[in-house]
This record gives sequence, C-alpha cells and structure tokens, in this order.
Amino acid sequence: MSLPSLTDTSTLIRHRRSIKPVDMDAARTVEPELVTELIENATWAPNHGMTEPWKFHVYSGAARQGLAEGLSSIYQRTTPAADFREDKFKKMGENPLLAPVIIACVMERSGGGKIPEMEEIEAVSCAMQNMMLSATAAGLGSFWSSPPVLETTDFQNWLGIRSEDRCMGLLYLGWPKPGLVWPRSMRQPVSSKITWHHD
Ligand SMILES: Cc1cc2nc3c(=O)[nH]c(=O)nc-3n(C[C@H](O)[C@H](O)[C@H](O)COP(=O)(O)O)c2cc1C
Repeated sequence: MSLPSLTDTSTLIRHRRSIKPVDMDAARTVEPELVTELIENATWAPNHGMTEPWKFHVYSGAARQGLAEGLSSIYQRTTPAADFREDKFKKMGENPLLAPVIIACVMERSGGGKIPEMEEIEAVSCAMQNMMLSATAAGLGSFWSSPPVLETTDFQNWLGIRSEDRCMGLLYLGWPKPGLVWPRSMRQPVSSKITWHHD
C-alpha cells in the first residue's frame, strides 16, 4: 500500500472549499456507491471509546422535496415572528433541491453517557471532515449547513432521532456546475496560531 504524500495531503486539505448548493449541478447524480465510500471514510474518524457516535441520513431524488418541506415548515412553525426571515425560509425550501445529495449527520449518544457529549460531537465533526475531504478528492463539492432549526425538537422528531441525539449539520454534496470558478479562501498566517514551548 502506498500512502499519499504529505504534499498531496496538504494540497487536498487546502483545496477543499465550501461549495454552495447553488453552485452544484442538480441534474448530475452522485452514485450511491460513491456516497457509501464517502460515508465509510467518515466512519474511520477517531472516536473515544469506539462508540462510533454517528448516523447518516441520506436524501436524494424525490426525498429532497420532503427534506425541503420539513425544514421550511419547521422553521416557520418554531421561529418567533420577530426573528422570522423570509429569505431564510425560502432558502430552506430551495437548497435541498439544488444539490443531488444531502446527508443529515447525527451524533448519537450511547453507553449511558460514559463519554462526554463534547467528545462525541468532536468525533462526528472529524467524521464530517473526512467526508468533505474525500468528496474533494473525488471532485465533488461539499457544503456544511447548520441552520438553528436542526436543534429543534420538531426537527429531531421529523428526522426520527432521540432528544439526546443531535443533528450536527446537513452536508450538501454535488458535482460543481460546469465552469464554476473554484472559490478562494484565506487563513491567518499559521505563525499567529502557534505558541512553541521549548525546554
Ligand atoms: C460546524 C460548521 C457549521 C457551518 N455552518 C454553516 C452554515 O450554516 N452556513 C454557511 O454558509 N456555512 C456554514 N459552514 C461553512 C463555513 O461557512 C465555511 O467553512 C467557512 O466559510 C470557510 O470556508 P471554506 O469551507 O471554503 O474553507 C459551517 C462550517 C462548520 C465547520
């Protein structure tokens, strides 16, 4: 087995960008085998106590309409009138139809809470990053969306998860639209993030 070089790994990590659903080719399907491989890579994330605290709900085809309706109706029902934003409401009803695949990524508690919740959340975050990097390697765009509606009891019930579980995000996946200019991003100089301790 030959491993990708550090240079290749750095290139992959730095090339990953959030690609918005509007920039995905809705008409081009992502094969279930590829989605399964991305999810399998997600499951290779580190996790404390081998709890493997992740579950993935995959929406494609006509099921995306149900997700769009679920999100927008729950947003409408649970958002206080003063906070309600028509543009957000509209987006929730549209975004799931712009991407061929959406994966609701869930942190599932187990083992009587032996592992702190924070660590289970951290493990699922690692899993989601594995998935996004794998998607990038495959040429797919990915986008992590976390509207507050995901935290509502109504959405938990809609998704069929327990109150102690959390939907940590919707991962949109899709091939970039032909001709899409790959977005650029910035990071602070790494030296500003490091404190070296010698001796
Ligand atoms: C936990 C988490 C939640 C996020 N939720 C949203 C979101 O709800 N809406 C959004 O536009 N971007 C969301 N993002 C994506 C960030 O906006 C994006 O990663 C950031 O702008 C950096 O761009 P890059 O991913 O291209 O490097 C989220 C990212 C993370 C890690």
